[in-house]
Amino acid sequence: MKVAKTIESVRRLVKAARGKGKKIGFVPTMGALHIGHISLIKKAKLKTDFVVISIFVNPTQFGPGEDFEKYPRPLKADLEICKKAGVDVVFAPTAKQMYPRENITWVNVEKLTEQLFGRSRPGHFRGVTTVCAKLFNIVAPDLAFFGQKDAQQAIVIKRMVADLNMPLKIVVCPTVRQPDGLAVSSRNQYLAAQQKKDAALIYKSLQKCRQMIKDGISNSKTIISRMRKVLQQAPSIKIEYISLVDAETLRELDKITGKVLTAVVVKIGSTRLIDNILIDTEKK
Ligand code: PAJ
Repeated sequence: MKVAKTIESVRRLVKAARGKGKKIGFVPTMGALHIGHISLIKKAKLKTDFVVISIFVNPTQFGPGEDFEKYPRPLKADLEICKKAGVDVVFAPTAKQMYPRENITWVNVEKLTEQLFGRSRPGHFRGVTTVCAKLFNIVAPDLAFFGQKDAQQAIVIKRMVADLNMPLKIVVCPTVRQPDGLAVSSRNQYLAAQQKKDAALIYKSLQKCRQMIKDGISNSKTIISRMRKVLQQAPSIKIEYISLVDAETLRELDKITGKVLTAVVVKIGSTRLIDNILIDTEKK
């Protein structure tokens, strides 16, 4: 496994692999790697011949007062995980490499970023799409792998790639969960033991949603209020929002129909946790 710290070196390594006819797979991450990230690496290894992972805590997607400074950066442990998982190249640039001067060129996907998460984190998706566009230009992969855990991010990135005719395909992989249902996340380590237990209610509320839709309940307000009741079992959980949206347009649905994305965003202490499920109402 090679570790590339500069744009030139990762480009050189990818060019050499491509020269040997290898298909390039890319997994962008912010590090603090866990089994969710490893599942993306495994999928990349299945679908491509040469796997590049980036580890970069991207400053432009954090808002003021968010956890940019506090975000975990266990690079040594991450490199071990990558090695074990069979990664070919780790691209771990400094902020200076990625943003050597004031950044005045941005990629912004409209509409899709104004819904859901975009409402509580203004500017977040502009940072994500800009860094992903940069990373795609640097690595030039054939396939890039994203997690369903961040459903809106995956949808926004897919749209950016389509609208800008970027020559790669986005593959979205299922959310990896703990046995109690809590979606694995680098931010879970901010939680104390009891908070972690409480956080399992997030997935419980999503399962409740799936059951209600299966039982024929189609009024979003009814579903949301019952999901709230599940989450309110733990006083530590502060609900930011529960949304049932069309899985393509991300527009709020009053009445459940077609493909529905149910997203939950809560705060436990100062930690924001997100989760979602996709429900195809035609496939009950
Ligand atoms: P990060 O939060 O490190 O996540 C990297 C990738 O891992 C994302 O595609 C995310 O959806 C996926 N992932 C995280 N937890 C997962 C889980 N439990 N199951 C499956 N996949 C999971 O998302 C980012 O970084 C950044 O925004 C990034 C795209 C790297 C741009 O900076």
